Amino acid sequence: MCFHILNFGCQMNVADGHWLSQNLMSRGWTAVSEQDAQVFIITTCSVREKPEQKVYSLLGRLKEYVDKNPDVFVAVGGCVAQQVGEEFWNRFPFVRLVFGTDGTAMVPQALERLVSDPDLRISLLDFLDYYPEREHNEKGSVEAQTFVNIMQGCDNFCTYCIVPFTRGRQKSRAASAVVAECMSLVSRGARELTLLGQNVNSYGQDKHGDGTSFAQLLHRISDIPGLERLGFVTSHPKDIAQEVVDAFGMLSNLSPQLHLPVQSGSNAVLQAMGRKYTREHYLEIVQNLRQTCPHIALTTDFIVGFPGETQKDFEDTLDLVKKVRFVSSFSFKYSDRPGVRAEKFPDKIEEEEKSQRLQILQDLQNRITIEKLNQMVGQEVTVLVEGPSKIQGDTQTFWRGRDCGGRIVNFASSFPDLSGKMVLTTIQEAKRHSLIGEIRGEPW
Ligand code: 5AD
Ligand code: SF4
Repeated sequence: MCFHILNFGCQMNVADGHWLSQNLMSRGWTAVSEQDAQVFIITTCSVREKPEQKVYSLLGRLKEYVDKNPDVFVAVGGCVAQQVGEEFWNRFPFVRLVFGTDGTAMVPQALERLVSDPDLRISLLDFLDYYPEREHNEKGSVEAQTFVNIMQGCDNFCTYCIVPFTRGRQKSRAASAVVAECMSLVSRGARELTLLGQNVNSYGQDKHGDGTSFAQLLHRISDIPGLERLGFVTSHPKDIAQEVVDAFGMLSNLSPQLHLPVQSGSNAVLQAMGRKYTREHYLEIVQNLRQTCPHIALTTDFIVGFPGETQKDFEDTLDLVKKVRFVSSFSFKYSDRPGVRAEKFPDKIEEEEKSQRLQILQDLQNRITIEKLNQMVGQEVTVLVEGPSKIQGDTQTFWRGRDCGGRIVNFASSFPDLSGKMVLTTIQEAKRHSLIGEIRGEPW
């Protein structure tokens, strides 16, 4: 069977899509381009309004392939699938499988059943009470940069967020299973591992944990011989333990970067969001991190136009941006999600006002990003190469990779294939969102 995966949303979806792809190939399926696919697998995101609409328009587009070949069918997974569920079948009859995150482990078997029984439809939407371990392919090489799931779900119920409803309660994966997977990945070529979870700092603090804290997990994984870079997403400021901050000063392969979503710089808004920290507490964490690891690359997420956000609240956010000077940030206009508490909050902000605030915030961030990237000019950085760059010169091939702070570095080189290699570069120039480097010496 020939399949094609279309990923939307967060890195957890990308990782789920990657696992599905590997697993299906180990069962003899073939990954093909869109035109040749018999089965489409879509991983979806409903964290904001637009990604959800993207799924509907995508299904509209995929219908053309079904019109040409009625055997073609689609599996829809992830957060929109969890929410919309079997209603997909009414609107798009060629959707024959819907699965939530807890159902992902069973998708390959379900797809095989669907292929052999054309009258069947399957829904895998139940929430499980434990982390559903997935079949792991222990053979074959893996990519130099690889993601590892350490938990699923979230218990925080921030008032704007749909994730606790679509991904269920927090369930930590057993530390022994995580470490075993990491060791296997490193032995098969992984050089950088990124641990994934909705809220990794509360790893182990649910009833499924085995007593291992997140800091202890970091130490155990960092010790794996041959692992060159270790990172993790996403962290909640209220849960970041001192031991995790300390780890940045102790573990040489722990990448000096942290994505720490602040959402707002106003205490009133943070409280209404149910974030359970203040701007002062957040600034203290930043100071603490910078004392331990002076060059740590901090990134964040913002929501602008949360219900009741005043001009003063918004200015508090701008002020926090100026104080912290994030390397980069993602910022979004608040979007009502069905069933979340903020949906019923009064004082919704007009769309136009939200757009204006977003623009002001993004302009400020862009200025800071450029200034910070310019400070890198002249520095030597090690780049883990992802693949060929979008930029291409007339005579030489350009490659794209990331430094240990997650910054994109493009550089020219005549070496034949640098994907997965490390190279030392000197930064020559800063672009708006990336750096241009010059290669030094031999790749390794
Ligand atoms: N509206 C806008 N942005 C949201 N996010 C989560 N829920 C919403 C929402 N309802 C943003 C947050 C989060 C990121 C993944 O998406 O900033 O950190
Ligand atoms: Fe959503 Fe808050 Fe959980 Fe993040 S921590 S997934 S924002 S509820």
